[in-house]
Amino acid sequence: MNLHLDLSTLELTSYLQQQGWINNNETVQHIEKPGEGNMNMVLRIKTENRSFILKQANPFVQKYPNIPAPQERVAVEAKFYEITATVPSIKHYMPTLIGFDVEHHILAVEDLGKTADFTFIYQKGKYLTNIQLNQAVDFLSIMHNTDFNSDEFPSNLALRQLNHEHLFVYPYLEDNGFNLDTIQVGLQAVAMRYKKDEALKKKMKTLGKVYLSSGRTLLHGDYYPGSWLRTNDTLKVIDPEFCFFGDCEYDLGVLIAHLKMAQASTEQLEMVLATYEKPSWFNPRLVDLFTGMEIMRRIIGLAQLPLNLTLAERTVILAEAYELIMA
Ligand SMILES: Nc1ncnc2c1ncn2[C@@H]1O[C@H](COP(=O)(O)OP(=O)(O)OP(=O)(O)O)[C@@H](O)[C@H]1O
Ligand SMILES: [Mg+2]
Repeated sequence: MNLHLDLSTLELTSYLQQQGWINNNETVQHIEKPGEGNMNMVLRIKTENRSFILKQANPFVQKYPNIPAPQERVAVEAKFYEITATVPSIKHYMPTLIGFDVEHHILAVEDLGKTADFTFIYQKGKYLTNIQLNQAVDFLSIMHNTDFNSDEFPSNLALRQLNHEHLFVYPYLEDNGFNLDTIQVGLQAVAMRYKKDEALKKKMKTLGKVYLSSGRTLLHGDYYPGSWLRTNDTLKVIDPEFCFFGDCEYDLGVLIAHLKMAQASTEQLEMVLATYEKPSWFNPRLVDLFTGMEIMRRIIGLAQLPLNLTLAERTVILAEAYELIMA
């Protein structure tokens, strides 16, 4: 059966009752879009008794319907919720999983409320507090030092391959059809230096293979401010659809890249490296490589961020990323 989430309140009531996610005397009162999602169809559902979030994966990227994307990603996300819920200190940082409908690729999770994600930190003068940053690092420390069983866990390889294209390949194509001057005049010329740099491209090719290989650590896979929500209680982590068993340095490198793009202070950057509990196999060089890669792909790739940087600032941060990669 084909079922799309753009249903009437009546149809949705019957669907949710069938799933056993609401009671038989409970009805859907209100449906809204909780925030901007790119990959999936995400809705906030309100009944007389409660509110929760539904997330449906279509066989394409929601924002770019001509780009195919594996629907299994939402099953992988559900698995992440299941496996991490076994560790109370990790569960504490995430919404609770309510249910998963494998047939229709629909996930139901606890509603954390109408709250902002942390992408506001890219604005000038806006920062994470040290407490919030500590929480973001704490989540990684706990997860990366938990010995989860990877045997039954899906590889998420199809989604990773799609991501790989945007992380390691697309940004370095001289003619990928994306004119970076539409983001910022002059950016295309700055990017061209990197697109023509064969040594850099070789490094990216090697690092791309690391990303596609499997490792021992459960990763969130998209650990950036858009995956964190602010609640009264604590910073919460959502959207683990890119998760996989890989190298811990990936999550940490991505986190650091975003702090740099948000112009976090040196103190905060040092705090991350000082407080993150490094597993014995931790490789700081790999963190630098992933940090450099993430900065590059966010500034000269397709998945742009609401960055508040001048061309000169982007040029400097790109040069810094280049140094991290080539060191
Ligand atoms: N549990 C939740 N509680 C409250 N709001 C939520 C919750 N889950 C998601 N949202 C809101 O919905 C938005 C989209 O959710 P999510 O990031 O999971 O979707 P996505 O399609 O994977 O997005 P993206 O393309 O950015 O990865 C979030 O940015 C947030 O604003
Ligand atoms: Mg997502």
